[in-house]
Amino acid sequence: MACCLESALLFLLLLLLLLLESACSTDGNRCVDAAEACTADEQCQQLRSEYVARCLGRAAPGGWPGSGGCVRSRCRRALRRFFARGPPALTHALLFCGCEGPACAERRRQTFAPACAFSGPGPAPPSCLKPLDRCERSRLCRPRLLAFQASCAPVPGSRDGCPEERGPRCLRAYAGLVGTVVTPNYLDNVSARVAPWCGCEASGNRREECEAFRKLFTRNPCLDGAIQAFNSFQPSILQDQRNPYQNAGCCFPKVSSIPILTALALQALL
Ligand SMILES: *[C@@H]1O[C@H](CO)[C@@H](O)[C@H](O)[C@H]1NC(C)=O
Repeated sequence: MACCLESALLFLLLLLLLLLESACSTDGNRCVDAAEACTADEQCQQLRSEYVARCLGRAAPGGWPGSGGCVRSRCRRALRRFFARGPPALTHALLFCGCEGPACAERRRQTFAPACAFSGPGPAPPSCLKPLDRCERSRLCRPRLLAFQASCAPVPGSRDGCPEERGPRCLRAYAGLVGTVVTPNYLDNVSARVAPWCGCEASGNRREECEAFRKLFTRNPCLDGAIQAFNSFQPSILQDQRNPYQNAGCCFPKVSSIPILTALALQALL
């Protein structure tokens, strides 16, 4: 009797281990992986520390910090430097990491300091015509917006919304907008929808122009397809970038250990 109880307990223990391991494998958070890969790269880490330091707090009205506010223009400049000088494989992995749950999506939404760089200072978003007009008058922003419009405009009839080879160019152009007056970000933690912080409710007789601009972000099959295509390559990019020993803890050895654990569990049972 004692023999069988022991075996049964061992069996249960091994089964538990198996369950834990497979739970671990489905819980991958690509945005955390991307952050770790950036930390492991000296240049990426340095540029990210710079923008994090410049983007602390909320955007202050008028652009100058009151108590604890941040200077939006400095924060946005640091964000532009991050994307201009950081290794694209790493900066894009942070910007476009694919998420399956709200915890990951919330982290993704927070990655580029939305309180300082994206939303506010008022509680309600302005009409998109305001940042759009400012961008078109800006020597810095205008060419970036034109590049985004040219590279990410959906093409009717093509697979994924735009010619496949244009995907990487579309992502670069999108990343180029981060840190301009039309800085886009993820809108919530339950979808992958992106847009600048603005709406089209109060846009009067220019409503169509406003909607057309906003739709380039929120309902753009070319941009969505390019992000998805990027994500289907991302795991290999990140594995190349980081030290294989450093991150082995959770998700590395499980493929090889599942058959061993299964064999042990069966042996315990017999
Ligand atoms: C998702 O967003 C909502 C609304 O902003 C927030 O209340 C919630 O805590 C967020 N979820 C996570 C997992 O952060």
